[in-house]
Amino acid sequence: MGLNFIDVYHRTGLYPMALPSGLGGEGAGVVVAVGPGVTHVRVGDRVAYTASGALGSYSEERILDARWLVRLPDAIDEQTGAAMMLKGLTAWYLLKRSYTVVAGDWILLHAAAGGVGLIAAQWARELGARVIGVVGSAAKRELALAHGCEHVLLDSEDIPRRVRELAGGGVPVVYDSVGRTTFFQSLDCLQPHGLLVSFGNSSGRVEPFGLHELQTRGSLYVTRPTLQDFIRERRDLEAGSGELFDLVQRGRVRIEVNQTYALRDAAQAHRNLEARRTTGSTVLIP
Ligand SMILES: NC(=O)c1ccc[n+]([C@@H]2O[C@H](COP(=O)([O-])OP(=O)(O)OC[C@H]3O[C@@H](n4cnc5c(N)ncnc54)[C@H](OP(=O)(O)O)[C@@H]3O)[C@@H](O)[C@H]2O)c1
Repeated sequence: MGLNFIDVYHRTGLYPMALPSGLGGEGAGVVVAVGPGVTHVRVGDRVAYTASGALGSYSEERILDARWLVRLPDAIDEQTGAAMMLKGLTAWYLLKRSYTVVAGDWILLHAAAGGVGLIAAQWARELGARVIGVVGSAAKRELALAHGCEHVLLDSEDIPRRVRELAGGGVPVVYDSVGRTTFFQSLDCLQPHGLLVSFGNSSGRVEPFGLHELQTRGSLYVTRPTLQDFIRERRDLEAGSGELFDLVQRGRVRIEVNQTYALRDAAQAHRNLEARRTTGSTVLIP
């Protein structure tokens, strides 16, 4: 199963869940039984899923609504599959649905060396975008530069000033998953009519703010999306995972599993994720 920052929000209660509940919204494995009427997967198929509406991937076996499952191509192993569904489909909707990135766009991406970050940066480059990443350390900077970012800033820098220098007056879109500590800074990086895609809260929830903040900075837009709204229909799940699998199989997006833990060590994996000690994807092995 894949580890995600959203697992931390569920564990701490930032995102309330109905109890009792398992934890975890991403995984891969082999189908051992199917219910009546299930036709798109069969016993023995290798499958992967993200299912934020059906938590409980931290498990050795589970019962899951078959609508979440997609078959893994032969060229993608289960560890990679588990590491990329939630994060990869997030990158897909961020770049192709929340805002449609086109060749030549400058984009700003926070946590660029993280799980979503490394995938989104590579995918954005594949679309022809010019990616400015933000990271928390020099080592992460090197990693982000090797995975699609053209420039990488440290979070200690004056981000709006540096972005305006690089992109000549601001970017059309900022992807901000850090939340509380970066929200206004991200608004200050946008060009007029630009869009802030605020898609996470690793530093805490964004505080309520006045709409005039958008007016005075150039008639800006803000959206606060979540993956499950982009894969409600089976055809969207298939479209997004099809594009993701294609890019991974062609080597255009590399899924970097930089940490693995035994499932019984999930608590330590959470501690390391929260302490910003991980990069790329993390997988828990049952
Ligand atoms: N809305 C959606 O649909 C959706 C879906 C998936 C993920 N997300 C969000 O996307 C973000 C990335 O998820 P992920 O699982 O791939 O995690 P991740 O990016 O691998 O880990 C989070 C990273 O955020 C950065 N960060 C900055 N300030 C932080 C702080 N105060 N505490 C902890 N981390 C901080 C750290 O990178 P640096 O050290 O480089 O700053 C850290 O490594 C999360 O906010 C998650 O909730 C949203």
